[in-house]
Amino acid sequence: MKVVAIVQARMGSSRLPGKVLKPLGDNVVLEFLLKRLAQSATLDEIIVATTELADDNQIVDLVGNDTVKVHRGSENDVLQRYKNAADESKAEIIVRITGDCPLVDPELVDHCVNRLIDRNLDYISNCNNALNPLPDGFDVEVFTSSSFALINKLSITSAYREHVTFGYFKTGLFNTETINYEHPYSHLRLTLDYEEDYKVISRIADEMGTEDWGWKKISKFVSNSQNIMKINSHIVRNASWEKSFSDESSGRELVLTRPNCIANGSGLLSKRADQFSPEGWPENYLKAKGQVIWSGCERLFLDYSIGGIGATTLGFGCDFVDKRVINTILNGSACSVNSSEEITATQKLINAIPWIESARYTRSGGEATTLAVRIARAKTGKTKILFSGYHGWHDWYLAAALNHKLGNHLLEDLPIAGVPKELGGTSMPFDYGDFNGFDSYISEHRADIAAVILEPMRYSLPDIEFLQHVRTECTNNNIILIFDEISSGFRFNNSAVHLDIGINPDLVVFSKAIGNGYPIAVVAGKSEIMTAVKDSFISSTTHTESIGFSAMSAVLDFYEANPVSQDLAERGKAIRNILTKVASIYGLDIKTSGMDQLWSWSFEGETSRNRQLQTIVTETMLDNSILFSNRFYATLGIDSDFYPLFERALKKSFKAVSSILENHEDPADHIHLGLNKLGIY
Ligand SMILES: Cc1ncc(COP(=O)(O)O)c(C=O)c1O
Repeated sequence: MKVVAIVQARMGSSRLPGKVLKPLGDNVVLEFLLKRLAQSATLDEIIVATTELADDNQIVDLVGNDTVKVHRGSENDVLQRYKNAADESKAEIIVRITGDCPLVDPELVDHCVNRLIDRNLDYISNCNNALNPLPDGFDVEVFTSSSFALINKLSITSAYREHVTFGYFKTGLFNTETINYEHPYSHLRLTLDYEEDYKVISRIADEMGTEDWGWKKISKFVSNSQNIMKINSHIVRNASWEKSFSDESSGRELVLTRPNCIANGSGLLSKRADQFSPEGWPENYLKAKGQVIWSGCERLFLDYSIGGIGATTLGFGCDFVDKRVINTILNGSACSVNSSEEITATQKLINAIPWIESARYTRSGGEATTLAVRIARAKTGKTKILFSGYHGWHDWYLAAALNHKLGNHLLEDLPIAGVPKELGGTSMPFDYGDFNGFDSYISEHRADIAAVILEPMRYSLPDIEFLQHVRTECTNNNIILIFDEISSGFRFNNSAVHLDIGINPDLVVFSKAIGNGYPIAVVAGKSEIMTAVKDSFISSTTHTESIGFSAMSAVLDFYEANPVSQDLAERGKAIRNILTKVASIYGLDIKTSGMDQLWSWSFEGETSRNRQLQTIVTETMLDNSILFSNRFYATLGIDSDFYPLFERALKKSFKAVSSILENHEDPADHIHLGLNKLGIY
């Protein structure tokens, strides 16, 4: 295995400019460091990784030779500099040394390298030990290039990129170790960051002369000399790390203690932390990309949960969509006139779903189903609504909960204070596939029913016979049939589910995936029905802003060019397979249900304890920096390179569950962050 030490060094250090070229013994600091490092038996190559800045030409002139190579890269994205240097040299194991450690001890390097290999670790260091750290200045970090490729992908914040290896020890994703050496020297500061440090290190170098002292001898020498030790003993260790976090975490306070200023915690039930694990699930985020969520401070997670509650099918912060949105913003996303983006988006929608003739837009899904219901009532002059499934929070829908239990419609025990009692009886739920239940409503209320609204599919394939029956009854009874494809559309196929089954509704509603998280929702249909909007006042300022339209146009273009639904299924299937494989390894009986793009799972035969056991899984996955719950929405952000990390974390979780069950322990005793409320949509 090729072991390459990469030494980061630059002239532009803010605290001690030009430090690496300051004289030290018979050399300058960097030469001194490289000579010591070259004595490591495990190293195949040494590279100095510096920046492309003109100032650093001096470093290149000094060290570029046969034994030490030079790589030049970004000044601030030090991680990328390391990655490119490692890739160029085809390193398999990378030893990270920083230019502020001129006293580097080759024996410590060899010890770390050998131990990483022996223990099959991703990462090892001697410098992250909070209890008994080595003196500051002997830092060695060693990691595999394969794990470093993943670190490169998940390090989405500038602090993670500047400090290169935060991803290893600030997340629980990797197989890491910090070596703990027995010694009494933790208080010593032998690193080179400030002028005072330089004085200390110069005294050591002068004393050492031509000998090669190891870290213990150096530490002993300094600790025996009060005069040397006190030169820099006032400087706080790792202050720059702390600063990176406080600079970057403007939301630090919010992240640590979410204030009560958002009534009831969140505008969306499904994003409330208590749906997963009240104390452990991140409540806020500061940055999200692909499947990585950074929730401020040191908390960085890989998301395997609700994928932006089904909205971000193309992944968080999808460049393709974001670029178009940014362009729209730069062109003025709102003004006194309607946006041309609205026309473009609608033409693209008609292109994808050719029976549609016209559309109207809102910004949220529930608002769009409300618009569809209003159109149906306006068109038919009737009032009652028959529905199946979840369609939002508005009065027309929640009115059903005045008289009915909605447990079969994804939401149980919804609180409905404020919904006028007078609306009781205006909305009635029927179960998908229940011919008799549906027919009895039709025969009793046909003269009053304005619309039937349902999702053509959710957790299983469409029941074509039932949908055909519903279609026929609606046609025969002057009832508007609305397909709510807010969750099914652009997920289970590359457009609308109803196109696959050849049953057209009168109105169709989309949201979520068509905006990849940007606020956009649409009601569309034949002009003959859509025209009823003119008979009812439906109007809103933000229905005309253009960010939503441009996001939608971009999403539709992406779907036209790429087999998105198929790709989602592939990812969903892979994660599902890992779940069932790991469960069987630990003898756990689990059941998954749903389509590969959107599925849920539960422990079989554990009805009463299922929630508790799933909470334990969620909590242990959180310990490993993974967001995972009882539902999985696939997104294109899910990256197959991370599958092994997911599997490794899941093994720990299922091992914990299996041992609880084997020992007949009460799962409730093992929940430490609070029981979740799984099962609520
Ligand atoms: C089928 C369906 N209809 C309506 C809605 C409500 O959409 P929104 O949350 O954007 O208001 C949802 C949301 O999950 C949904 O899945």
